[in-house]
Amino acid sequence: MFDLIALCLISILVYTFSRNRRQSSTPPGPRGLPFLGNALQIPKECSWLAFAEWAKIYGPVMHVHVISSSIIVLSSREAISDLLEKKNAMYSDRPVIPMAGELAGFGKYTAMLPYGQRHREGRKLILGTVNARKAPELHAIQEAKAADFVSRLTRNPSEFRPHLRWLLASIVLQITYGINVDSYDDAYVRAVEIVLNDFSEVTAPGAYLVDGLPFLKYIPEWFPGASFKRIAREANERASQLVVNLYKVSREQMDHGAATPSFVADILAYNPSPTPEEEDLYQQVSAQFYGAGSDTTVSSLLSFFLIMAQHPEIQRKAQAEVDAIVGDRLPKCSDCKDMPYLEAVLKEVHRCNPVVPLALPHHVRREDVYAGFRIPAGSTVIANTWAVLHDPALYPRPDEVIPERYLGKPDEHPDLNPDPRDFAFGYGRRVCPGRMLAEDTLFIVAASVLASFNISDAVPLEGETIEYRGGVLSHPDEFTCNITPRRVV
Ligand code: HEM
Ligand SMILES: *[C@@H]1O[C@H](CO)[C@@H](O)[C@H](O)[C@H]1NC(C)=O
Repeated sequence: MFDLIALCLISILVYTFSRNRRQSSTPPGPRGLPFLGNALQIPKECSWLAFAEWAKIYGPVMHVHVISSSIIVLSSREAISDLLEKKNAMYSDRPVIPMAGELAGFGKYTAMLPYGQRHREGRKLILGTVNARKAPELHAIQEAKAADFVSRLTRNPSEFRPHLRWLLASIVLQITYGINVDSYDDAYVRAVEIVLNDFSEVTAPGAYLVDGLPFLKYIPEWFPGASFKRIAREANERASQLVVNLYKVSREQMDHGAATPSFVADILAYNPSPTPEEEDLYQQVSAQFYGAGSDTTVSSLLSFFLIMAQHPEIQRKAQAEVDAIVGDRLPKCSDCKDMPYLEAVLKEVHRCNPVVPLALPHHVRREDVYAGFRIPAGSTVIANTWAVLHDPALYPRPDEVIPERYLGKPDEHPDLNPDPRDFAFGYGRRVCPGRMLAEDTLFIVAASVLASFNISDAVPLEGETIEYRGGVLSHPDEFTCNITPRRVV
């Protein structure tokens, strides 16, 4: 206990001292409380909206501080590109997050690894499966699952949310492990859902004191008020167990000669007798597919259903385009190039409601200077993707859904309406390695749904309006809608 008090005092002293000495040249930002800084001003939900408001006052390079850590928030296309892209060798690290990364163990997965050898290996493995050469194999899986989704939706349209969750879990488990799951109640799907819930719980912004006062991670689990230690330990155990189990099932299928093509099969074909260390890496990288690829895509598809229900005229136009290309058959991934209007609709889905509105936090180890401001060594660097995608100077009338904004002659306004996906999937050497997989899934599901159903009457389950919420990932409030078949499937 006395250690705790002493540590508190020391951090206050160190903090006050360093702040007075250096404050002058860091970028501007909202004035905060002594010691706590801006901790209480940053909302736990939709912080991107608050950051976007502050940026109107303080500019596109902002300094926010939470207890002893500096956060640099970048809110313009230019600032994000200058730092995260042009200086990507410097800005591609990740901050260490005590609760989620260290205690709950999520720090060992590619998306949260520090910039270095193991991170590079993880991305290389993922891109060995998610690439243009492998696309035909992936498309076959995506098309079959989308067709299955359409028939499930026809039988039971009110269950579109669990069907979507099944769909995404089922695509990623098939592609990663060659495991075929039949229903939302499947044991693997349920285990994945629990781990994803654990992840969003432990990454909930501002929920855990230990994230602001990292030394608290050393207090024992039995200590009064230390329930976060138990929450983290249990999440860690569940995640590790799932990662190992899925990999084991996949290997066993292969040992019995029943392997379908998959990420794990690809890796083991290349390296049939991995060392325990390699096996450990393979397990953690495999987990990224469901870890990073399912909730994100589900959320984009929920936005797609919502936008279709709220904009019947856009839906009719997209349906007309799909009908003209596919006739009576079901859509294929290769139809994408013939459906510019649907592609523009999907760009609006990403722009209006980016699923990862602040990307994932980057981190800079060494001090830097930008636009005359000092970026302190050890700062967390956040790109406000939401702010860029709603910047009226880039996207006129940013709050309206206008697919046509991407369809004009490109040379008329070359600087307007850039492809929102170049922001929505993140930046620099941390840019989403699953982008191709995600885009193909969004396309094939959107095209199949439009070919087969009319969507209308989105109504929130609770309250008056359907809002977007979330801490790291943004998703719409639960809603119901009418999904009526347009043809016999
Ligand atoms: C709509 C779907 C998706 C969206 C919007 C999305 C977006 C993002 C964003 C914004 C980041 C952070 C980039 C940064 O820090 O600058 C990211 C990272 C990542 N995504 Fe995705 N993603 C999606 C789907 C997927 C899928 C299907 C996979 C499957 C492989 C995936 C795997 C990853 C991984 C492994 C990372 C970490 C990359 C790193 O730290 O180097 N994502 N994604
Ligand atoms: C779908 O919507 C269109 C346009 O509102 C309408 O003409 C058509 O009858 C609808 N189809 C079904 C099966 O409800």
